[in-house]
Amino acid sequence: MAILKIVKFGDQTLRKVCRPVDEITPKIITLLDDMIETMRAANGCGLAAPQVGILRRIAVIEVEEGKVYELINPKIIAYTGTQEEVEGCLSNPGRYGYVKRPAAVTVRATNRLGEEYELVGRGLLARAICHECDHLDGKLYTDFQTREAKCD
Ligand code: NI
Repeated sequence: MAILKIVKFGDQTLRKVCRPVDEITPKIITLLDDMIETMRAANGCGLAAPQVGILRRIAVIEVEEGKVYELINPKIIAYTGTQEEVEGCLSNPGRYGYVKRPAAVTVRATNRLGEEYELVGRGLLARAICHECDHLDGKLYTDFQTREAKCD
């Protein structure tokens, strides 16, 4: 496993629409492992492939320690309610902003075994799912933030 370099805001890589994964190759499995290690090393709760320079529809999320979700080709299929909370991004270290998101979302994705699954996320998990799915379409949280948050 390896810790990958995280691309920062301002890099046009983060503005690209990522391509779907049509086959889960050993290279994709290694990428998932490296993304999890990179996310943990940076103390993040989510990481999308474009953040490590790979323009594929892949993200990892860990909002609860030890509970990692791998999302390959994720698609949000339902959402409900709203919440407005502080969000940050490993590609924009030290900065935070208030973002309005659904209170709960249902995402359909594929795991590393090629199995399709659905995940319902509420609160922080809902925000992480939205944030990471946005990355796969070249969108950043600052596009939607209502105001910057001051955090120490
Ligand atoms: Ni991010």
